[in-house]
Amino acid sequence: MTDASGKGGPTETLMVTKFLRARPQDSWTIDAARRHNNAYQTLDKAFAMEPDAVVQAVSDSVLRGKGGAGFGTGQKWSFLPKDVFPRYLCVNADEGEPCTFKDHMLLERDPHQLIEGIVVAAFAIRTDLAFVYVRGEFALAADRLGQAIRDAYDAGFLGKNILGSGFDLDLVLHRGAGCYIAGDETGLLSSLEGERAMPRIKPPFPAAQGVYAAPTIVNNVETISTVPHIIRRGAKWYNAMGENRSTGTRIFSVSGHVERPGNYEVELAKTSFRDLIEGLAGGVRDGHTLKFFIPGGASSPWLMPQHLDAPLDMDYVQGELKSMLGSGAVMVFDDTTDPLQVAWRLGKFFEHESCGKCTPCREGSGWIAKVLYRMANGQGRSDDLDLLLSFGNNIVPGLNAPFAQTTICALGPSTMSPVVSLNRWFRDEIIERMRADETRRAGLAVTPA
Ligand SMILES: Cc1cc2nc3c(=O)[nH]c(=O)nc-3n(C[C@H](O)[C@H](O)[C@H](O)COP(=O)(O)O)c2cc1C
Repeated sequence: MTDASGKGGPTETLMVTKFLRARPQDSWTIDAARRHNNAYQTLDKAFAMEPDAVVQAVSDSVLRGKGGAGFGTGQKWSFLPKDVFPRYLCVNADEGEPCTFKDHMLLERDPHQLIEGIVVAAFAIRTDLAFVYVRGEFALAADRLGQAIRDAYDAGFLGKNILGSGFDLDLVLHRGAGCYIAGDETGLLSSLEGERAMPRIKPPFPAAQGVYAAPTIVNNVETISTVPHIIRRGAKWYNAMGENRSTGTRIFSVSGHVERPGNYEVELAKTSFRDLIEGLAGGVRDGHTLKFFIPGGASSPWLMPQHLDAPLDMDYVQGELKSMLGSGAVMVFDDTTDPLQVAWRLGKFFEHESCGKCTPCREGSGWIAKVLYRMANGQGRSDDLDLLLSFGNNIVPGLNAPFAQTTICALGPSTMSPVVSLNRWFRDEIIERMRADETRRAGLAVTPA
């Protein structure tokens, strides 16, 4: 395993990782990918299987989506209606979740791994047209992927009758314009069609009615990049790593107050947050101590130092810790951090990125950001935290996401994660601080502690 810069030393944690494949010098070129990374060597094996057998192998591996929701990939593929054509595959390379930086690295370092995965996945779901939706800002990733697609066509890994299999596949690179909501799968499909990236009401789910009203599978870059490894080495190889329904590996983007921020691919469930944050990322920097961390992107509720020994297990983190591994972005905050400032910055992000389609999110995100701003800047009131929770109740009644949300997509409930986290972990100190601010504003002397 290496970090994103390629500087970290290999560790023994895993036998095969995507980042081991990414030799910094030239790993994105087709020659290097074929010479060093066995690129496209899974195709013959996949083409010798029945498409349904490929779907079954992916189901047996218990591969779960690595874009955020962790839905079973084989299960999603099996939802496609039988014999409805055309159908499409869309790869989600929007990577808009704050502090997530693994997908564009995979595109920059190893685009042929993704293309190989796309060919295998497209064969499995029986489509002849796939798209990669790349976030607008990812110029280098899009350039390298574009070149890789051209090279794959020239080498016969894309196009008509791939490797003499009789299977045809065209691959379209689509560049977005850089908005968070285009990462939501139905927002992405709207954007791909040339509309504003606004989410669509579900059902129908994309597998039934997606882009151009045809059945569509949307999967994350890392998810699809994993598929060739599963087909080559077998489902058992994959699900022998990890435990329960958190099998295989995931790449975590560790950022914030750590010594060695970077991407680290680790075995799920058998690795803890401590292994990741202290072992691989070098722990909190400059001798400071950990105040809190966000385990799965801005949308995920925060965790505390007492959770460091929890396993990186999707169901454990959701069920026991009431948070999620989400996009795999682990943000670390030390004891110099003001949680209210963090919550406000995140609130501001959600307000900015709300597409405005659903009233509770459009209005609620703005109010949440406003109130967090005054709280973080000496203008708060002692009942502000409860006021924020009452806003949240209009977005997620009972604060029980995702079961009762009043919005079409998960952005609405995400606006509540910083608020719920403040209330869960910092309530007393925040109320005390708001009272002190009120007292100061009233012009009364505050007795020093
Ligand atoms: C507001 C919002 C933003 C999202 N952004 C991304 C993203 O940037 N990349 C991604 O893969 N999934 C993102 N998702 C999740 C996708 O909707 C979808 O679940 C995912 O692409 C499915 O792929 P997977 O099953 O391989 O994880 C986002 C969801 C929401 C609600």
